[in-house]
Amino acid sequence: MRHFLSLADAGPAGLRRILDCAHALKAARADRPRGAPDDGARLAGRVLAAIFEKPSTRTRLSFDIAMRQLGGATITLAAADMQLGRGETIADTARVLSRMVDAVMIRARSHLDIEAFAAAADLPVINGLSDRSHPCQAVADMMTVEERLGRPVSTSRWAWVGDGNNVAQSIIEAAGLMGFRLRLAVPAGFEPDAGFVAAARARGAEVELVASPEAAVRDADVVATDTWVSMGDADVAARHRAMQPFQVGPMLMAAAGAGAIFLHCLPAHRGEEVTDSVIDGPQSAVWDEAENRVHAQKAILLWLFGHLDA
Ligand code: CP
Ligand code: NVA
Repeated sequence: MRHFLSLADAGPAGLRRILDCAHALKAARADRPRGAPDDGARLAGRVLAAIFEKPSTRTRLSFDIAMRQLGGATITLAAADMQLGRGETIADTARVLSRMVDAVMIRARSHLDIEAFAAAADLPVINGLSDRSHPCQAVADMMTVEERLGRPVSTSRWAWVGDGNNVAQSIIEAAGLMGFRLRLAVPAGFEPDAGFVAAARARGAEVELVASPEAAVRDADVVATDTWVSMGDADVAARHRAMQPFQVGPMLMAAAGAGAIFLHCLPAHRGEEVTDSVIDGPQSAVWDEAENRVHAQKAILLWLFGHLDA
């Protein structure tokens, strides 16, 4: 039984299959109505439970639409409305859900809680964002890069500018697994977990922390950022002070070059980590990136259920 708690659960070969599948699924749907099932409806009869301990727009919608297009169904649950919030244990919850649905997606405050759920569950578990990582987002990001650049993500050069957070950590993991170059400019005190960087380097990837946003974006094909204050972060004023010089604006995109694309997982805080001119400008790929969450989710679900095995 498979889980998708981190990108490493799929590994380079699994991720390649997931990305190829996501591109093919997107192309095959063309103008079909959004809720209409794909030919073959490969997850017909399957039910996904999607549990949210934190807010979500894209992850919530994309998993629901993904399951509809695959012929299955989704039950979306706010963790606070479940008995979990009154002290039922994670393990007992996992055992019960394992008797009722076919897969679970969890967005949790603590990554350890997702791991505890998966350990007790008898079904595939997906990390829909934790304090540690956001692997589903990284799949959609890589898909968007391949679509925009027209070549494998392994040949691309990425810059991350801003907080070394959960989204950044999954991109570091992606760089290690898929072998793309990644330069990160992050303010002192907001660096990603050194373990992610070490693991990517151990796989032979060129992952560097550099001193300035300008150094990070030089020769980059992709400039990515995220909010300065993630869900649950308390040190708001300190974060704003530290991140101000890391805003992605027109000068920084110009330093990357006209061919570079801009990525942001969204939600964006316009005027903070990114200017309107960049997110609404010609280099922005953020709306494709958001749409690609649906296609990526579908491919991840098919991989989990063994439909992408050779
Ligand atoms: N990018 C992303 O995961 O968005 P949501 O928080 O809206 O799900
Ligand atoms: N880093 C952000 C991502 C939101 C999709 C957060 O964790 O709030």
